[in-house]
Amino acid sequence: MSSSSVQTFPKQEADAEGETNPELYQHFANLVSSLPSSKGLSNNRLYRHDRGWHCSVVPIVGAMVADACFNSRPSDIIVATLPKSGTTWMKSLLYATVHRREHPVDDGAAGHPLNSWGPHQLIKFFEYQLYTGDKVPDLDKLPDPRHFATHVPFVSLPRSVVATPGCKIVYVCRDPKDHLISQWDFANKFRVKDGLEPLPLEDAAELFCAGLSPFGPYWDHVLGYWGAHRADPDKVLFFRYEEMQRDPAAHVRRLAEFVGLPFSSGEEDSGVVDAVVALCSFERMRGMAATKGGRTELSFGVVPNSSFFRQGVVGDWVNHLSPEMARRIDAITADKFKGSGLLV
Ligand code: A3P
Repeated sequence: MSSSSVQTFPKQEADAEGETNPELYQHFANLVSSLPSSKGLSNNRLYRHDRGWHCSVVPIVGAMVADACFNSRPSDIIVATLPKSGTTWMKSLLYATVHRREHPVDDGAAGHPLNSWGPHQLIKFFEYQLYTGDKVPDLDKLPDPRHFATHVPFVSLPRSVVATPGCKIVYVCRDPKDHLISQWDFANKFRVKDGLEPLPLEDAAELFCAGLSPFGPYWDHVLGYWGAHRADPDKVLFFRYEEMQRDPAAHVRRLAEFVGLPFSSGEEDSGVVDAVVALCSFERMRGMAATKGGRTELSFGVVPNSSFFRQGVVGDWVNHLSPEMARRIDAITADKFKGSGLLV
């Protein structure tokens, strides 16, 4: 990273100092080690949280520490997703939208922080980045508005996120078949890197249908946030990846309104909405220096930012899943979502 890009690094994202609390982490690690565990759709064993979701040990512990230690503010915005559902895209859109005055998005946005820093460096995960490695970060030092991210289901969000009026959650869900393919491909990259055989898709699909995917079952995750959105639409915004692809500008407008920063008519006239969409588009982001050369430190390793960009299309599952497996996933989805108001 050049020294000039370090100078543009937004204050909010500088690592907040804090303390370590190995005893707290050990306490939760002991608790997790007593939970039922099984093989899952990743290279680590998945533990079953007592609220019904599955994940490997380090992020579950991180989620528990976040629940115990994180203090929310009314101005906080949390991006919540299942992995491989559009997290990278939503983080970029949120960052570009909220910071558009200090970091203009038009005229090529050459100096925009997204050119120098990956979305996962700008908006960090509670359970993979902030609450890991025995750390209890001092997030109170960060200026408003703070943005964080999580893959944790609604039932296990840090309690202060749910309890703090004003603190908002932006959720993105994706077609389960595309989510599965993206997750399978991502997990296999790490299996191969760790010297393991890639998981055959048939096995991955079986595990997925059994709910044994990271932060799964998929259906419970989506329904949890959908229910929260229906109960309090000012608290939880609910987007679908496929609809974002169909009309990204409309979603950027809704996002801006939701976080209290609607686009002015002057901004509309000068094309700021389209500039946000263009800056965060798959093609543009994939070509950025931050994607091509940057790396993000997560609890399971240092990950090239390029690994968060694969195809970025809707419906790639058709090139991988057998019609029979696709029908099976659709049938489970139809059954689980029945009566929820969520369309398959
Ligand atoms: P595919 O593997 O189907 O290509 P996440 O960000 O939650 O990890 O999700 C990753 C998925 O979102 C990948 O899907 C990735 O290609 C896609 N993606 C990443 N950035 C995107 C963007 N700017 N626009 C659309 N899709 C994007």
